[in-house]
Amino acid sequence: MKELTSTVISNRQIASNTYLLSLECEMDPYIPGQFVMVKAPSPGAFLRRPLGIMELKEGVLALLYKTRGEGTIALSMLKEGEAISVMGPLGNGFRIEDEAQAVYIAGGIGLPPLLSLYNKIKKGNFLIGARSEEDIPFDYIPARAEIATEDGSVGHKGLVTDILSGMNLKKPNIIYACGPVAMLKKVADISRHMNIPCQVSLEERMACGFGVCAGCVVKTVSGNKSVCALGPVFNAEEIIW
Ligand SMILES: Cc1cc2nc3c(=O)[nH]c(=O)nc-3n(C[C@H](O)[C@H](O)[C@H](O)COP(=O)(O)OP(=O)(O)OC[C@H]3O[C@@H](n4cnc5c(N)ncnc54)[C@H](O)[C@@H]3O)c2cc1C
Ligand code: FES
Repeated sequence: MKELTSTVISNRQIASNTYLLSLECEMDPYIPGQFVMVKAPSPGAFLRRPLGIMELKEGVLALLYKTRGEGTIALSMLKEGEAISVMGPLGNGFRIEDEAQAVYIAGGIGLPPLLSLYNKIKKGNFLIGARSEEDIPFDYIPARAEIATEDGSVGHKGLVTDILSGMNLKKPNIIYACGPVAMLKKVADISRHMNIPCQVSLEERMACGFGVCAGCVVKTVSGNKSVCALGPVFNAEEIIW
């Protein structure tokens, strides 16, 4: 893990409140599921913000983020040529197993780490859940992705977990998921009932990003664990939901 100063190559809106930030960045190689902590260029956003790594190729780091509060709104205002401090890669990524029938489930801002994983493996079924069509960055998702939207504007009307539980496909051999806790909990329930291994990437508010502040602790069957240092990826059955 290193702290680096990176330069903005581009920062553009690609869906509703969703931006793709490309940075010139000499970061060490990463494993999909790992993340970076970025320093938002706002005096009010004192702490760094965690963002999943979508891609790191030929010295260009791609981050996909949704504007939520002060930090991510400040990020959305970054312009080409500006400098930004990036720390990473951090945490533990997905453990890649036999991917023949993998299922990837991305809800909301859980998309970047799973895109990174899918783009590395290029096998399996990609499922996306969003509130509405306008939230989906269509240019960046796999062509055969199955979509669920809460308002029914595209794909299945309802939750992405409906697609998973109604899947007529061959039984998946591994499920990878990232998204809101309610979605992850449902995915964990379904995977347990179907007896399929499942890895989840958790999102907690983070302060340090490397295990010293205890700000991101979750309860697991083997005690409290920090999401930043021992996750963000965990086996679903490890977590006390
Ligand atoms: C390991 C990890 C990877 C992440 N990857 C991405 C990513 O690739 N793209 C992306 O858009 N976002 C990602 N997030 C979430 C992102 O870090 C938060 O949205 C961001 O920190 C919010 O900062 P802010 O200053 O804009 O909002 P704040 O003003 O700090 O908060 C605004 C709202 O967002 C909520 N929020 C803040 N932090 C989180 C969080 N960590 N998870 C869920 N809700 C939060 C707050 O409770 C509040 O309701 C990731 C989070 C983690 C822990
Ligand atoms: S954010 Fe400090 S311990 Fe995880």
